[in-house]
Amino acid sequence: MPYAHITGWGMAVPEAVLTNDDLSKIVDTNDAWIRERTGIRERRVARENEFPSTLGVEASFKALQVANVRPTDLDLIICTTSSPEYIFPATACLIQDQLGATKAGAFDLLAACTGFIFAMNMAAQAIRSGSIKTALVVGSETLSRFIDWKDRTTCILFGDGAGAFVLQASDKPGGVLSAVMHSDGSGGDSLSLPGGGSRFPATEATVHEGKHYIQMDGKEVFRFATRVMASATQEAVDAAGLTLDQIRWIVPHQANIRIIDAAARGLKLPMERFVVNIDRYGNTSTASIPIAMVEAVEKGQIQAGDKLVMVGFGAGLTWGALAAEWTGPIPSKGHIRPEQYRLFGRLRSLVRRTIRFIEGLLYRREL
Ligand code: UT7
Repeated sequence: MPYAHITGWGMAVPEAVLTNDDLSKIVDTNDAWIRERTGIRERRVARENEFPSTLGVEASFKALQVANVRPTDLDLIICTTSSPEYIFPATACLIQDQLGATKAGAFDLLAACTGFIFAMNMAAQAIRSGSIKTALVVGSETLSRFIDWKDRTTCILFGDGAGAFVLQASDKPGGVLSAVMHSDGSGGDSLSLPGGGSRFPATEATVHEGKHYIQMDGKEVFRFATRVMASATQEAVDAAGLTLDQIRWIVPHQANIRIIDAAARGLKLPMERFVVNIDRYGNTSTASIPIAMVEAVEKGQIQAGDKLVMVGFGAGLTWGALAAEWTGPIPSKGHIRPEQYRLFGRLRSLVRRTIRFIEGLLYRREL
C-alpha cells in the first residue's frame, strides 16, 4: 500500500495589515485586551482584488515548486474554505483552471476551521487506496468579507490567507500516519453564517438582520475547543501507534492563544512544542494550520524525520487531528517554473472558453 507524503508546501497572505490599534479606531476595543484575551497583534485583510482562489493559487504554485510537481501531474485538488468565492462553481475548480491542472478532479470541502485536516485525510486516503498518485490540498479564506466590523467580539479574531500542500504517493514509509475526524451538528448554532444559503437566500430582510455576517457564541466555542483539542491530539497519536513523547511538534488551529495553552496543559506538554503564529495572522480559519506549518518549516523548526500532529476545531461543530512524519520533497529531475505554468493556465483557459463559444455558435446553426 503506498504512503501519502507531504512533499510541497506554500502560503500566501494579503499584504494589507490590520493592527489592534487600527481596530480600536473602528470598535470599542484596545490592543491590550485583544492581546491578553486572544494573543493576536495583527491580521491580514484581503484587498478588493484578492479572493480565496487568487490566494490559493499563489500558495499552490509555491507548494508545487517545492515539490517539483507540474500542475498537469495533479490527480486531485481539494480546496477547503468557509468563504468560497461562489456557492458554485467550487473554488477548487477556479484554482484548477488558474493552475492549468488539466488532469485533476477538483472539489470544495467545508468543515470550517477543521477543513484542512479533513481534506488532508481525504487526499491521503485516496493516495493510500492507490486510486491517485498526486494531490493538492488548499486551505484558503477571505472571511473578512463576512465580518460585521461593528461587532467587537468577532472582528478582532479573523484574518485572511491561504496555505497549500502537495501530497504524493511513495513506497517509503512516512507521510500521513493517522487521522481522526469528529462532528457534532447539535452545536451548529454556536458558530454560523446563516445567510446566503438556500434557507436564507439574500433578501433585504436578511441583510437588515445581519444574517450575512459570522455569528458566534464565543464562550461556548471556547469551552468546546478546550475540551476537544487535547483529546483529538491524543486520539491521532494513539491511532498512529505512537506515544506523545515521540511527537516533536503540535500544530494547532490558531484561534486563541488561551485555547492552545489549554491544549498544552491538557496534554502536559510545554508550549515550546506548539507551533504558534496567531500574533501575526489572527484566526485564518482553515488556512491557519498550513500557514503555521509553512512558517515552521521555512524557519527550520520542523525538519525531515519529525513526527507531528495537526489539530483543529471549528464550526459544525467539527474537530479532528492528523499525525504525520515530515519527509520533504521526493528527489526528482529538472525544475518546474511556476511562471511558465501560470501563462499556460491562462492560455489554456482562454482557448477552452473560445472553443466553447464557437461550439455554441455551431450548435445554434445546426438547430
Ligand atoms: O475558529 C473558531 C473560531 N472561534 C473561536 O475560536 C472563538 C473562541 N472564543 C474566544 O476566543 C473568546 O471567547 C473571545 C476572544 C471571543 C472572547 O473572550 P472572552 O474571554 O470569552 O471574553 P468575554 O466574552 O467573556 O468578555 C469579557 C469582557 C466583557 O465585558 P464585561 O461583560 O465583563 O464587562 C465583554 O463585553 O470583555 C468584553 N469584550 C471586549 N472588550 C474589549 C468582549 N470583546 C471585547 C473586545 N474588546 N474586542
